[in-house]
Formats: sequence, structure tokens, C-alpha cells
Amino acid sequence: MPYAEPGKTKFQIDLRRHLRDQDICDNLVHLICEIAEASKYVINAVRTGDLGVAGTSNLYGEEQLALDVLSDRIIRKRLIHSGVVCNIASEEMEQIYEVKGNADGLYSVAYDPLDGSSLVDVNLAVGTIVSIYRGCELLQEGRHQVAAIYILYGPRVSMVYSVGNGVHEFTMNHLMEYTLTRENVRMKPMGDIYSPGGLRNKYTPGNESFIRHLEEKGAKLRYSGGFVPDINQVLMKGKGLFMYPALKGSPNGKLRLLFELNPMAFLVENAGGAASNGRCRILDIKPESLDQREPVYIGCNDDVNKAVEFVANG
Ligand code: F6P
Ligand code: MN
Repeated sequence: MPYAEPGKTKFQIDLRRHLRDQDICDNLVHLICEIAEASKYVINAVRTGDLGVAGTSNLYGEEQLALDVLSDRIIRKRLIHSGVVCNIASEEMEQIYEVKGNADGLYSVAYDPLDGSSLVDVNLAVGTIVSIYRGCELLQEGRHQVAAIYILYGPRVSMVYSVGNGVHEFTMNHLMEYTLTRENVRMKPMGDIYSPGGLRNKYTPGNESFIRHLEEKGAKLRYSGGFVPDINQVLMKGKGLFMYPALKGSPNGKLRLLFELNPMAFLVENAGGAASNGRCRILDIKPESLDQREPVYIGCNDDVNKAVEFVANG
């Protein structure tokens, strides 16, 4: 727990200390801490960088990088210099980046540097999503992840991680340190929040009747259009589900398996929830390409099962 017994001085548990208490090797502790460090530069860019609406040059006429490109470089550089990474895949790069001189690196990382980046222009929350595998193979089923992380840049910055042993939330304090705010986050079996992506007039009949079922049972609509804040709400409240289904004309939905779905599925499952593409468990899908997309239903176990049932009978 983050605090000492009542009446005693409060103390805070920082990220590194928490990681050291997990049953993981020092190199993984180091890698996760490097990602946490990189996020401090990303939030700085998000808070102070030029907005897309203002064009591509700053006050002095210098060219500015788009925030997603800048975030990608910040994180990639940190991963390269970590000394423990061999292969890197990012939603911003077409190919795998092989770290020179580190072909026997211990880990490979897939990440979405700034998911929902266009939401920065309208001052809504965005995030970074990270997936870590042991060894150099990135096209593996998500169940082989050794860690998954997201960082949410909202009114506060939070970092949520799992190394397969529970899900833990850290919040950035005034010194830009991540300190423990929730340990062992758990999801209820069922909830009353739903977060549905995609145009409803493109929903298939099964998805349409599932949404009607949720409306009839009085579930609350909670959709910001940012995957990280939307998942964070479901996960931290421990109830409900997020979905981005197959759409007419987009049978694989929108979200990417490697960069978005696998890390979130790993986190949600580690909190007692579930994630499916409507036919099978997200973490059991063998990816065929870096940019593979899949439909997704993710959140409370019973809610995900219900969605799968409606889709199958649709
Ligand atoms: O990366 C894709 C993304 O921006 C996610 O953050 C979000 O969940 C989704 O797209 C929103 O898509 P749509 O605008 O189609 O609902
Ligand atoms: Mn994205």
C-alpha cells in the first residue's frame, strides 16, 4: 500500500522501488524505468509543443515536428540507449528498427508513441502504449508479453503497468516522479459503462443489437475518442467495456493488434477482465504483420462474453 499505518508519517512508493519488489530481472526494471523517463519528455512536448492547427512552424519560423513524430523519436532514442533492446516497432514506423550492435538484446518493444494525437488540438487526453517481449521476435501472440504499460496524459499524468502479476497505477507528482496510487487494480465481473468506437451506422446487426441491449439495461455512454483514457476509465473504475467492432467496409475494425490491443489486453486480463476480437482471445492471435488490425471487445469478463454472444448470433 502507498501509505504507512494511520498516525505514522506518510511515505510514497516510487516506480523503481515497486518494480524491484516484483519477481523480474534488473534489465526489465531498467527498461520500464527508461520508458517512464521518456514519458516525461513526451508530456513536455504535448504541453508546450505547437498545435497542428497552428501550422508547421513556430514563432521563429523554424519547422516543428508533429507531436506524434516527436514522441516517437523521444521514445525510440531512449530505447536504443537503454542497451537492452534489440528490435523496436512503432506505430509511426513502417518497418522494424533493429538496434545496431545489439542483435542479442534482451527485449523487443512495440509501442504507439502518442495515441489519439489529434485530440491534443482540442485539449483532450492522449497516451503512450507499450508492449515488451523477451528476445528479438515481435510477431508473437500477445500472451508472450513480459510487460505492458500505458501512460495517460490527462489533467494528471499516470502510468499503469503489469509484468504479469497484477496491474498497478502510478501518478506523476510535482517533482515529475511516478509514485504508486493504486496497487492490484481489479475489474468486477460486470459493469455499467460502455465506450463504443466507430460509426454506428456502419455497425453490423450483431453489434447494433448489443448496443441496444446495453442502452436498455441503462449502461452509461463514456467515449472520449482516445483509446488510452477510454480504457483507463473502464480499468480504474473496474467496470464496463470498450469496443471497436468490425464495421461495414472495415471488417477488422480500426485498432492495431501490436501497438494498441495486445498491451491493453494484457493489462485488462491481469486485472481480471477479458479481451476478444469477437471470435477469440486477443492475446492468442498470431500477428501476421506489424500493422494488423482486429475488432475488439475489452473490459469486464461477463460484458465481453455478452458482446461475443451478440456478435455470434448477429
Ligand atoms: O489510434 C486510434 C484512435 O485514435 C484511438 O485512440 C481511438 O480509440 C480511436 O482511434 C477512435 O476512433 P473513432 O474516431 O473512429 O471512434
Ligand atoms: Mn493509435
